[in-house]
Amino acid sequence: MNNQNNSLSAAGKLTTVLGLNWGDEGKGKLVDILAGKMQFVARFGGGANAGHTIVVDGQKVILHQLPSGVLHPQTKNVIGNGCVVHLPTLIEEIDELAKIGVKLTDRLFISDRATILFDFHKELDGLSESKLGDKKIGTTKRGIGPAYSDRVNRRSLRMGDLSNSENFAAKLRARLEEVNSISEMPVKFDIENEITMYRDLAERLDGMIVDTSAILQNALADGKTVLAEGAQGSLLDLDFGSFPFVTSSTTTAGNIFSGLGVAPQNLESIGVVKAYSTRVGAGPFPTELENATGEKLREVGAEFGATTGRPRRCGWCDLVATRFAAKLNGTTAINITKLDVLNQFDEIQICTKYLLDGEEINSPPAVIEDFARVEPVFETLPGWNSDTSAVQKISELPENAQKYIQFVEKYLGVPVKWVGVGVERSAMAS
Ligand code: IMP
Repeated sequence: MNNQNNSLSAAGKLTTVLGLNWGDEGKGKLVDILAGKMQFVARFGGGANAGHTIVVDGQKVILHQLPSGVLHPQTKNVIGNGCVVHLPTLIEEIDELAKIGVKLTDRLFISDRATILFDFHKELDGLSESKLGDKKIGTTKRGIGPAYSDRVNRRSLRMGDLSNSENFAAKLRARLEEVNSISEMPVKFDIENEITMYRDLAERLDGMIVDTSAILQNALADGKTVLAEGAQGSLLDLDFGSFPFVTSSTTTAGNIFSGLGVAPQNLESIGVVKAYSTRVGAGPFPTELENATGEKLREVGAEFGATTGRPRRCGWCDLVATRFAAKLNGTTAINITKLDVLNQFDEIQICTKYLLDGEEINSPPAVIEDFARVEPVFETLPGWNSDTSAVQKISELPENAQKYIQFVEKYLGVPVKWVGVGVERSAMAS
């Protein structure tokens, strides 16, 4: 590369936005606001299991595979080596954006080291879930676990493999022959068709599959700003989440460096937490409300999955789990989202401790059976029963809403800098 900067010290700024709970914290809105000011937005992990909803002029845009910077014409976007890429989804999103006038030429870069996620991974995901029966994880069935398994098993195909048509065909053929030989597989893949389809799709990405690690290293050495966009949530992290009810990638801050190929460096780490909690899929959720209050949160908050449409499980905000995640991520500032969903409650509860066998514990236990039986201890705060959607400054929110925010700040020891107060892109108090 001609414009390579060989300096080892990063003059630029690396910022991240990470969900502190089980995903769906509403990261998209802040990412969208920050993306307009960043030179790069990069995804470092996950794949099309993510669903980032952004409302632009009343029109909903849902991105699964693409980074959220795509809506800002001056921002460059990177899909890092830590990601798994489903080409049909990627191309579909590129085409959808083209329809609303968004062009990605010269501003979308996909790592040549990123793992390709094929349709057979989706089938394997479905098969594995159906075998688990009532112990199933409740995955998004986007093939995430099988694609990452192939990577760990060192037999996945990577985006760079698409540059050599023959090698690509040979590798995919060998893997598909194996897949087709699995007796319980509900579909048998037409191998030559699959090869042709992926080769054709790859042609659409001409010039986009590159060494993104070098691009980002150069950008940071040159003093540019990079936003590492989190996907899923910290409590779905492969190691630190509620294992095995987790996703198959590292969703916490550590993976920013390995998932993008940049050196560990100073990180502005913004943590996003909803004013209440939600979870999709199976697994422990201590503050879950399986009653009319949970129902009200789901209805008012429109809590249905952006990727699968599944109703999300709802409950009160869990500060124990949130603090655990904030510590893992080195969170330096908080964005509370969807505060407006709590606008019509007389009282609001917030979880500050767990009890396990009557003993107080201050973080989620590693053993899933223990996590499943912790009892949450709540504090009750007064509601504010008023509309917040037009408020632009946190200091102008109703007094009880400010008290709620201060409670969160004090517990986490981190300032709350943004508060989501309504659905519109602009409805964010700071
Ligand atoms: P997978 O990532 O599809 O394997 O799903 C594993 C778990 O993570 C399931 O409980 C999913 O519901 C959950 N999950 C994966 N991606 C997201 C997301 O973007 N938001 C919320 N939950 C997610």
